[in-house]
Amino acid sequence: MDQGIGDLFQRETKESRHTIRSKGSRSTGKPETYKRYDNVPKVELPKPLTDGGLSLWESFRRRRTVRRYEEQPVSLAELSQLLWATQGITAVKGDYAFRCTPSAGALYPVETYLAANRVDGLRSGIYHYGVGVHQLAEIKPGPCGRMMVEAAMGQTKLERAAVVFIWSAVVPRVKREYHQRAYRYIYLDAGHIAQNLALAAVSLGLGTCPIGAFFDDEMNGLLGLDGTDETVIYMTTVGRPAPRD
Ligand SMILES: Cc1cc2nc3c(=O)[nH]c(=O)nc-3n(C[C@H](O)[C@H](O)[C@H](O)COP(=O)(O)O)c2cc1C
Repeated sequence: MDQGIGDLFQRETKESRHTIRSKGSRSTGKPETYKRYDNVPKVELPKPLTDGGLSLWESFRRRRTVRRYEEQPVSLAELSQLLWATQGITAVKGDYAFRCTPSAGALYPVETYLAANRVDGLRSGIYHYGVGVHQLAEIKPGPCGRMMVEAAMGQTKLERAAVVFIWSAVVPRVKREYHQRAYRYIYLDAGHIAQNLALAAVSLGLGTCPIGAFFDDEMNGLLGLDGTDETVIYMTTVGRPAPRD
């Protein structure tokens, strides 16, 4: 089997009793756990529900990747519910604001952006989710569906979906604590987030498709990210399932 950077990554990010000892003391102070975009328009999100929806077991049973969507938009209330399910704050203890999904060391390196194509009450454009304030910041107004398709290697579902969740990693947030192993944790965190989104969408009668295939720097460029300190790692399309997906 060919050997390459992936094998090197897995090897070089292993922990052993030796590596743990050589790292010394833990870093002090806690970094910010979510970004803030000042001086851009904000959209308040409706308060999310904390009961109702399909049973968890039924959501597991029904979840299937959905790649074809109806034209119908999703509502702001549905979007709010989905955002809350992925990264909403559920408990505050001391300096820590814990969320619906776990994160290594409660450092929360994953940021959420949205490419909104058809959301009631939201102009088309790119938004950032302010976790602590449950608010969207409009960072790039205007239709972005076509650019999203191109950056996602021609996958037209990125334009047909009502909204696309785009997850980036703010690498230094975890690297200061976990060094090279931070990269493993980033991807594990993102998996938890994406699965909560998939199940919450099923519970609302919506469909999702996880997207791992995209041109990294084109997607970073769309969000204005440098691709090193902050880089897009994963996405998910969301919409109303069309019959016969
Ligand atoms: C990490 C990851 C990346 C994926 N990337 C894509 C993608 O870029 N495009 C796509 O159409 N499906 C993508 N998928 C969806 C898979 O093809 C799908 O989950 C798989 O076929 C299993 O089907 P199911 O989700 O309905 O159970 C991805 C899934 C995962 C978990």
